[in-house]
Amino acid sequence: MSAIAAGPGDQLKPKIVATGLEKRYCSARGGETVAVMGVELSICAGEFVCLVGPSGCGKTTLIQMMCGFEPPSAGRVLIDGEPIQGPNPDHIMIFQDYGLFPWRTVLGNVVFGLEALGMSTPEAKARAHETLQLVGLSAAAHQHPHQISSGMKQRVAIARALAVEPSVLFMDEPFAALDAFTRLRLQDEILRLWEVKRTTVVFVTHDLDEAIALAQRVVLMASSPGRIQRVMTIGLPYPRERTHTDFSEYRRELFEAFHLLHATAANSAV
Ligand SMILES: Nc1ncnc2c1ncn2[C@@H]1O[C@H](COP(=O)(O)OP(=O)(O)OP(=O)(O)O)[C@@H](O)[C@H]1O
Ligand SMILES: [Mg+2]
Repeated sequence: MSAIAAGPGDQLKPKIVATGLEKRYCSARGGETVAVMGVELSICAGEFVCLVGPSGCGKTTLIQMMCGFEPPSAGRVLIDGEPIQGPNPDHIMIFQDYGLFPWRTVLGNVVFGLEALGMSTPEAKARAHETLQLVGLSAAAHQHPHQISSGMKQRVAIARALAVEPSVLFMDEPFAALDAFTRLRLQDEILRLWEVKRTTVVFVTHDLDEAIALAQRVVLMASSPGRIQRVMTIGLPYPRERTHTDFSEYRRELFEAFHLLHATAANSAV
């Protein structure tokens, strides 16, 4: 049976509720992959949740169903009590590969999403400048993506998402391609933005330290079939000190849970 993950403070109205969520993919040869099975997950408004788990355990599939990119094979996702019907500007996804338009400037990339929502060009430019300032990119506003670093590209993608003021931000390994220093800086930045905006964040990562540094709850997934194995509440105040013994204690617990998963998977494969 899957773990039932209720948000901290059950008195709060949940923002995202996944019930009996399942995804099956059919292969060309008639076989079937159960990518996600029996997921029950409730996420509160303003909560920061990280999904972790071994490669192929269904993290991307789960986050894509939650944001409406993939229809579930069974079960459902409610956001603000409404069934999710498809992609929606109120629930934005940020990918690892940034998804920027190379022919547009940094500013133009942020303006694009706002104009697509029907905002007038002057209004969109003003909002885009404000958001670029928030992520520390004002000086790069008139550069093109090929002229800026990978970390800056990811910040543009974050600015573009935040500019439309979504109530939920879904992020699938957004920092995976970045070097360790840039990654640490962007982790601090995303926390700072989250504290200002109080957006609900669902964040996929392979990096257990990143999950402990960012999340209020870490959802550990297991493979074959993809499912929730364990939900860990990280009760540390922000900003979190990675060298603190409490941080190390969460790290130890999460690594042990992770190793247990591997051991169980290896035994069941014998
Ligand atoms: N479009 C698809 N068609 C068929 N199978 C798929 C499809 N997308 C994903 N899968 C399968 O579903 C399972 C879960 O994949 P998913 O990409 O969600 O895992 P993941 O946890 O995000 O992996 P990673 O950490 O490598 O990104 C895998 O077995 C994968 O091969
Ligand atoms: Mg993935």
